[in-house]
Amino acid sequence: MIKRMRRLRVNEEMRSLVRETYLQKSDLVYPIFVIEGENIKNPVDSMPGIYQYSIDRLGEEIDRVLESGIGAVLLFGIPAHKDEMATGAYDKDGITQRAVRFIKERAPKLLVIADVCLCEYTSHGHCGLICGEEILNDETLPLLAKMAVSLADAGADIIAPSDMMDGRVAFIREALDASGHGSTMIMAYSAKFASGYYSPFRDAAHSAPQFGDRKTYQMDPANRREAIREWQADIEEGADIIMIKPALAYLDVVREAADRTDYPIAVYNVSGEYAMVKAAAGRGWIDEKRIVMENMTAMKRAGAKIIITYHALDAAAWMEEADKKTVE
Ligand code: PBG
Ligand code: ZN
Repeated sequence: MIKRMRRLRVNEEMRSLVRETYLQKSDLVYPIFVIEGENIKNPVDSMPGIYQYSIDRLGEEIDRVLESGIGAVLLFGIPAHKDEMATGAYDKDGITQRAVRFIKERAPKLLVIADVCLCEYTSHGHCGLICGEEILNDETLPLLAKMAVSLADAGADIIAPSDMMDGRVAFIREALDASGHGSTMIMAYSAKFASGYYSPFRDAAHSAPQFGDRKTYQMDPANRREAIREWQADIEEGADIIMIKPALAYLDVVREAADRTDYPIAVYNVSGEYAMVKAAAGRGWIDEKRIVMENMTAMKRAGAKIIITYHALDAAAWMEEADKKTVE
């Protein structure tokens, strides 16, 4: 007997009745770059549609987020001054701290996720302190904790350490608890791979390493089993949400996390993934909306709940369109 799989595909009503995976606006997190200076809205060349904003112009972008119905943003600060100790990272009047305060004042309910890493603030562009060409682990931890506490003081709801130093989640959790921030969450970049997909971001955030690469702290793209140990460590150390990054080339790792843990899973659909879609769509080679929605569906199907993506504002608008259609 022929198995009639096509019966369930006969029309959109039937297809949506049996559809297994849905996208919703509440899945989305929109990354924002904030830069020191005045009256700045700088386009990022390798990321069409993405800008660096000075704080006096940030309101425009926040209003767009509120209008879109997206509930969370992820903040990256670009300081005017960088040094060996990344002092701008934990300055209470640093660029990211002020941006958090600005957003919390303008939109108190918008969840503000603050990326915690030193690479935007160090003169050498590495995510930790250095000694010669070595990236130091334990010496970096207190600075990450200080940065996390100063961002929580400013009002950040969620702290997202992206440095990949060992033990940072435990260190940050302890520092948050000790400073009265027991309810501030940690979204750990648990399995962050040393990826070629980050290069547009490094243009946007001025955070490219000045020597060497990040392979002594970020994960080898070849390793899936090691990723399991990474998120297990983060969960034991107190992470509330675990993240896999990048997204598309690592969906097997996302599925593994979904099968093995009971924690909320986020994926970061990174700058290079965005750049590829925008480049091909800009030439008319692919249908941008269709590809973005298909990619995000794949991320959720693999087991992610939260999708951090530069497409978030467009995607929210497309979801709104789709909702209207089903009502009609
Ligand atoms: C900082 C950081 C990076 C990204 C997020 N946080 C870059 C890096 O590790 O070099 C990448 C995000 C993206 O590519 O969109 N550590
Ligand atoms: Zn970094």
